[in-house]
Amino acid sequence: MASTETTPSMITPYDRATELKAFDQTKTGVKGLVDAGIKEIPRIFIHSPETIPKTNMPFKIPVIDLASPDRASTVEMIRVASQNLGFFQVINHGIPVSVTDETLQGVRRFHEQHVEVKKPFYTRDHSKKVVYNSNLNLYGNPATDWRDTFFSFMAPSPPLPEELPEVCRDIQIEYSDHVMKLGGVLFRLISEALGLKPDHLIDMDCDKGLTFVGHYYPACPQPELAMGASKHSDFEFLTVLLQDDIGGLQILHQNQWIDVPPTRGALVINIGDLLQMIANDRLKSVEHRVVANEKGPRVSVACFFSTSLMPSTRLYRPIKELVSDENPPRYRETTIHDYVKNSFSNSLDCVNNRLAHLKL
Ligand code: OGA
Ligand code: NI
Repeated sequence: MASTETTPSMITPYDRATELKAFDQTKTGVKGLVDAGIKEIPRIFIHSPETIPKTNMPFKIPVIDLASPDRASTVEMIRVASQNLGFFQVINHGIPVSVTDETLQGVRRFHEQHVEVKKPFYTRDHSKKVVYNSNLNLYGNPATDWRDTFFSFMAPSPPLPEELPEVCRDIQIEYSDHVMKLGGVLFRLISEALGLKPDHLIDMDCDKGLTFVGHYYPACPQPELAMGASKHSDFEFLTVLLQDDIGGLQILHQNQWIDVPPTRGALVINIGDLLQMIANDRLKSVEHRVVANEKGPRVSVACFFSTSLMPSTRLYRPIKELVSDENPPRYRETTIHDYVKNSFSNSLDCVNNRLAHLKL
């Protein structure tokens, strides 16, 4: 894939690895470049033109009211959205707007605090309690994204409060508690949407691990050349995404990019690869991206349900109620740990097709 593309940056060959390293060593991320007043983006950020198509289709991502008394129709809407789009939005989800607003503010405060306070968190060692850097896969991506990120594992073994960044620890803990509860609600609804008993996915521990990821997309001086987040699917069971009012998130549906419009107080929910796997492809983990914007910063918080690289022994495979002679299992069994390790260890291809190595 990447090797056959002609990127503007490849027209003049350059030592990408050296420039990536220099950027990484600043430990101030994309925000550091913007603060320094750059007017042109460094070439490591230039994406090939074909990854930035201009058009996108007008299309409405369903907005599902979780307070609706008509549970059957809620389940049905979730089933249709999860099968076709892999994405939906929820309102009346039980997380007060004061909490979602403060969560976005807290992530913004983290990224905008004094560099000398923020720098000690900058690392590529994922065993740290708080990992802050620019581009989690900086050295593997064909082009660098216009984004900085920090994350912490909040469940099942959260860091001590004092290990979290002082400027946002209270709200990180409060918001994560809310998202864990919402996870319980969503996994029950999705179990029902699959025709299973409501606790099925919870009994499988799908709701036990949570990562809190705080993204910061600075205003980009040349948005037509860059991407905020390159096309990818999420590798976990489920993602709960909170975005501010700037916009830029798009999902791929029938080869067209569809905007996921910001809706204050709403949360964007999407199916991850692991849920697609245990649902034997009945639910879809859909590719999405964030376009770069001259407006900014854009702040978003992605909460991922999965225990990620934590040691694990539980085996996951397509749920037996969802397979039959006519519809045999499409994936081999795996622990979450092995799945995550294998998905990220080898080729770049895995960024877009992480389930490939489990396919039967
Ligand atoms: C992600 C993601 C989208 C956003 O973190 O996986 O797709 O809007 N984020 O930040
Ligand atoms: Ni994503």
